Amino acid sequence: MQIENIDWGKLGFSYMKTDFSYISYYKDGQWDEGKLIEENTLTISQSAAALHYGQQTFEGLKAYRTKNGEIQLFRPDENAKRMIKSCNRIMMPEFPVERFVDACKKVVKANERFMPPYGSGATMYLRPFLIGVGDNIGVKPAPEYIFCIFCMPVGPYFKGGMTPVNFITSEYDRAAPYGTGAAKVGGNYAGSLYPHELAVKAGFADCIYLDPATHTKIEEVGAANFFGITKDDKFVTPISPSILPSITKYSLLHIAKEYLGMEVEERDCLIDNIDEFKEAGACGTAAVITPIGGISHNGKLHVFHSETEVGPVTKKLYDTLYGIQFGDVEGPEGWVVKV
Ligand code: PLP
Ligand code: COI
Repeated sequence: MQIENIDWGKLGFSYMKTDFSYISYYKDGQWDEGKLIEENTLTISQSAAALHYGQQTFEGLKAYRTKNGEIQLFRPDENAKRMIKSCNRIMMPEFPVERFVDACKKVVKANERFMPPYGSGATMYLRPFLIGVGDNIGVKPAPEYIFCIFCMPVGPYFKGGMTPVNFITSEYDRAAPYGTGAAKVGGNYAGSLYPHELAVKAGFADCIYLDPATHTKIEEVGAANFFGITKDDKFVTPISPSILPSITKYSLLHIAKEYLGMEVEERDCLIDNIDEFKEAGACGTAAVITPIGGISHNGKLHVFHSETEVGPVTKKLYDTLYGIQFGDVEGPEGWVVKV
């Protein structure tokens, strides 16, 4: 791949092969020391549990180029800890936090020529994953595992970037009430492909998932968490055992309270009461903050601040988060990790 051909400002969220990825194998009860490899393929048994029974988890985090040319990761230890929780839920061995963070640094360093420049708006997206492999046919945990991280430069996940986009509520669920919604496991995403397709065909960026038990409360915005800003300037985000605990969302809860002096609440967000919010957004590593223009529910479109302009509170949250991630605003201790 010639980096001269990359137009950093025009990148979308698409796959690109970079030079190196990191791989570690788990066999006989332990992880090997791990190494960087040049191939972007894996050879695994046809009977791998990851292929049949969805025994796999993945993460997503980004590396940012700062104004002074350094490279930093945003809260990689939180991704490592969430991967451990996902592994516990689906009976896979844990990959240690320090090794996870160290492997992220190694992958970014080895692919530095693909690191987007400061000011381009693009970032390096890292995709760690852990899968059950080895020979197996019964529904039981795999005998062997692979932990791998690859990376690529990316632009905005939703086309609009900071321009609001509209969403539609789905009749489908991405997860069951006490199923695997809080774990970042592949099966949740397989189940989301069809509802996503229906939403896009209907002219929306993605769908909003309601709580699987009663379909009355907002849970997730596609592959991102939801937040709303009330008319009296509270930052509100839903709480539920089937939502993926977004690291961006918890970072925004902190930013809203400690940097912007807002009141924050994690509580139910009733779909029939969405006009309590004057602004709303989707947040996640890939989505960063995507302003929600409107939500269509039961055939009616509810517009928040505007379908074309980002609201002032969402903009402040975005500027602070983005500033911390790119090193222009000082973040809380430990949030940025230099590569
Ligand atoms: N919700 C879902 C379903 C996701 O896949 C993601 C992406 O990781 C998020 C929310 C956002 O989480 P984070 O902010 O940790 O990237
Ligand atoms: C992320 O935000 O990192 C995600 O994992 C979302 C999506 C690309 C699956």
